[in-house]
Amino acid sequence: METHSDTHRGRLTKDGIRIYEAADFAGMHKAGRLAAQILDDIAPHVDVGQTTGEIDRLITQMVDDAGATSATIGYKGYRHASCISVNHVVCHGIPGDKVLKDGDILNIDVTVIVDGWFGDTSRMYVAGKPSIKAERLVQVTHDALMLGIEAARPGNTFGDIGHAIQTYVEAQRMSVVRDFCGHGLGQVFHAPPNVLHYGRPGTGPKLEEGMFFTIEPMVNLGRPETKVLADDWTAVTRDKSLSAQFEHSIGITADGCEIFTLSPGGLFHPTKPAG
Ligand code: MF3
Ligand code: CO
Ligand code: CO
Repeated sequence: METHSDTHRGRLTKDGIRIYEAADFAGMHKAGRLAAQILDDIAPHVDVGQTTGEIDRLITQMVDDAGATSATIGYKGYRHASCISVNHVVCHGIPGDKVLKDGDILNIDVTVIVDGWFGDTSRMYVAGKPSIKAERLVQVTHDALMLGIEAARPGNTFGDIGHAIQTYVEAQRMSVVRDFCGHGLGQVFHAPPNVLHYGRPGTGPKLEEGMFFTIEPMVNLGRPETKVLADDWTAVTRDKSLSAQFEHSIGITADGCEIFTLSPGGLFHPTKPAG
């Protein structure tokens, strides 16, 4: 008889965090790479005059063409293959009729399921020419994510990751959003722990080989407070200041971590394809 043991791989820590097996990294790598490839491939379509709804339609097609499944379509009633968060939208922006204009900055967040494994990643894009301030926000947010990832290794704690992000961002006189966090994932979309993007060194659960989770800091030019609009999804900065976010899915290894969602094309915040 078929059992459901394959949906409960590995073991749980005392904090309820799943420890996956060495063989499971391959599944995450494949799912993560597809999500990152889609973020590469959408880059040439992000431009002044384009609607966020059309970008989402193209992403839906890419997920389909790859024979994968969108994790967000049908998730808690969400109906799109991406979240597209423009300017002061912090996260969970709903694609639609909004037309991109010169200088807009936007986050595109895609989560796919491949062979049961979840790949979740987001990056910033720009339409036309962004202001110097907007460009700095995007760069600082990217660097904050990578500093968090550098702290992601056995022996450190989740608090060390949050601390690395927070201290860097605040030294640039920007702020870290508290109302949303990263999350465990693997054969589910959202699992323990909450991965906070602020914190104190040495606090929180210890990182162990085989943990899979996202780091996805949201950084504001102004104050950290957010509010969710009447559509029950769109989160915006309360002070209407610009916000940026980058997200990677990672797995803790013996001596560091593997980033499952690195850009196959080596793109950074790809307003245009490299070159
Ligand atoms: N991808 C988002 C995350 O990073 C979740 C989006 S859920 C949706 O966790 F329903 F809004 F798409
Ligand atoms: Co996520
Ligand atoms: Co995401």
